[in-house]
Parts: sequence; C-alpha cells; structure tokens
Amino acid sequence: MKKKIAVLPGDGIGREIAKGAVAVLKAVGERFGHEFEIEFADIGGAAIDQHHTPLPDETTEACKRSDAVLLGAVGGPKWDHLPSHIRPERGLLAIRKELQLFANLRPIITFESLVESSPLKREIIEDVDVMIVRELTGGLYFGKPSERRGEHNEVVIDTLHYTREEIERIVEKSFELAMVRNKKLTSVDKANVLESSRMWREIVQEKAKNYPEVQVEHMYVDAAAMKLIHQPKDFDVMVTENLFGDILSDEASMITGSLGLLPSASLRADGFGLFEPVHGSAPDIAGQDKANPMAMILSAAMMLKYSFNMHKEAEAIEQAINEVLNAGYRTPDIQNTGTHVVGTTKMIDLVVHR
Ligand code: NAI
Ligand code: MG
Repeated sequence: MKKKIAVLPGDGIGREIAKGAVAVLKAVGERFGHEFEIEFADIGGAAIDQHHTPLPDETTEACKRSDAVLLGAVGGPKWDHLPSHIRPERGLLAIRKELQLFANLRPIITFESLVESSPLKREIIEDVDVMIVRELTGGLYFGKPSERRGEHNEVVIDTLHYTREEIERIVEKSFELAMVRNKKLTSVDKANVLESSRMWREIVQEKAKNYPEVQVEHMYVDAAAMKLIHQPKDFDVMVTENLFGDILSDEASMITGSLGLLPSASLRADGFGLFEPVHGSAPDIAGQDKANPMAMILSAAMMLKYSFNMHKEAEAIEQAINEVLNAGYRTPDIQNTGTHVVGTTKMIDLVVHR
C-alpha cells in the first residue's frame, strides 16, 4: 500500500523522537511492502521562527493532502514570553480544530517488564488496559471569552463552552469503542457543579439507549482521579471533556511508567487522524539524547492501526517495543542507572532492528 504522511516534528524533544517514528515506519514499510511517503512541515515554535505563526498555511495544506499526520511536540521557554494567541501551543490547538479532530484516544496499557520497577503495587497496575477518550475541540481550551477585565485587569474569565453536537459525537465514538472492547463506559464529569456536565450526562444517558450491551457509569472527575490510581483495572473506556481528559491522562501515565510511553490518536469522524505522544516538548532534556522515543513510535503504530487498517504492522511495532523493554533497555525517564540505560538514538536503533 502507498500512503502519504505529514510529519510535524515541532520543538524540543519533538524533533528527536520524530526521527524515531520515521525510521520505524521505514523499517515497517520495507518488511511489509508498503511505501510511506513522508512530507515534513513546521509547527509550534519552529514555525514561529520560520514563518512568524505557530501554524503556517503550508503546514495545514501538507496535512490536508496527506493520509495521516504525525506530530512530535510543541513549545519551550524560548516562546514563553509571547501572548497566548501566538504561542506554539496555539498551533496545536489550531491544527486539531482545522482538521476537525474531535476524539483524542489515549490508551493506558501496562508493560509487564516495567511492573516490578513501578512505585505502584503490582496488583494495582498489572494488566491495566484503559482507553481514555478526551474531547478535543471544545471546553475551556476554546471558550470565548478568555480574557482579563477590569480597570487593573483584576478580573479573569475562561469559558467552558460545548454544543450538543460536540458532546453527542464524542459520546457516540466512545460507545463504539466500548463495543469493540469490554463493553464498559465510564463518563467522567462534574455534574454536581457544572451545567455543561449536566448536559454531558443527559447525552450519555440518551445515547446509552442505542447500546444496551454497554455497561455505563457516571463518575465525578475528582473521584475518577482517585480511582484511576487505586483501581485502574475497573475502567475500560473512559470518556470526558477536554480539560479533565488532559489531566486524567497525564495522571494515568504513571500506571504505564512514564509520560514517555504514552501515545495518542486524534480522530475525525471519517477516521482521518493526527497521532502524537501525550507528552510535551520536555525542554529540560531537549537536545541531550535523553528523550524516550516510545510514545512517538507507539503513536505511529496507532496511525497504522486506526488510519490505515494495518493491524499486523502496528502489532509488529508494539512487539518490537516490548522486546526491547523485556531485554532490559531503558531510557533515563524510566531508569537512570545500570548498563542498559540508553539514549534516544540508541533506543530508536534497538526498536528499528527488531
Ligand atoms: P512535558 O510533557 O514536556 O514534560 C513533563 C516532564 O516529563 C518533564 O520532566 C520531561 O522531561 C518529561 N518527559 C516528557 N516526555 C518525555 C519523554 N518522551 N522522555 C523522557 N521524559 C519525558 O510537559 P511540560 O514540561 O509541562 O511542558 C513543556 C513544554 O511542552 C511547554 O511549552 C508545554 O506547553 C508544551 N506541551 C506541549 C504538548 C504537546 O505538544 N502536545 C503537551 C504538553 C505540553
Ligand atoms: Mg497534557
């Protein structure tokens, strides 16, 4: 099969790990007889430096003429002084919006070889397999107004905004996912306080009628945050709004072992998607060959699975990652002493080789 992929490395470690995804795709292409045509484009701080905007039109165009998009990460201290509407992170929000990517899938899966070294107990984290579905186009991150007011800017407003349609489509997507998994859906909200959450809950209840096989539960986000660490195995698919999903998935990364192991898919209704690690550009370790490339490589595997229907190819990547971990290799985010501690480049080579 021939597929065109736009690769947006972005900033910081994004540039180092994007190389890993490209190298792994090349190996998979050779092994399974696919041609992956890669087109690179700028986003985030790199785009601000080159084109004076975090999302140049050329980048949007490159994404639109591709079959899928891979993204590293954006942001860094160099651009932190900029006003929020032209910061690197805006590029990310804009491309998600521009491509109508509304469903952010964040799988949380335990790696058996990392269970022993986890600060969390084996009985809690072994065999965890949760899919967090985060709504990506609405909520506080897009609400208007979002501004300061008053004579001395002493009042600040952020708005949590959702339309019925936005909630319906993410809830629908989550039920579909639950149907092909273990038929359990947890909807996370704050319906005891927020009106948007009350509407969210109503919609989940309406949609549930079309999926009688799916066991549905509603949970407040604060309780969900606690339960995610205490009994993660009780969750199958978890659906929630933008901000809650952002926070809960970072929290859940500790079940897996590191933020550097968490991939994500952001999907449009027709299956087109952008695939990126959950983590950011990690300026504290950027340029030091310390970043874990696995979240990025696993994001490429999700791309093969969700956008191209290439299941055995995706599994080959997942298996390679598992083999490397089983052989004891670790980047410093997981383990920082020992003979098998390796840098980004070496880790990429190990995965490509397998
Ligand atoms: P971060 O996710 O970049 O880093 C948090 C911590 O995790 C850091 O200690 C970092 O070294 C570590 N880490 C993250 N990914 C890692 C990897 N692959 N391997 C090893 N260690 C890893 O979040 P932070 O520090 O809050 O944000 C840094 C910048 O990234 C900011 O400018 C922020 O706005 C941006 N950001 C971008 C995102 C994106 O592009 N999707 C998401 C989150 C933050
Ligand atoms: Mg986040």
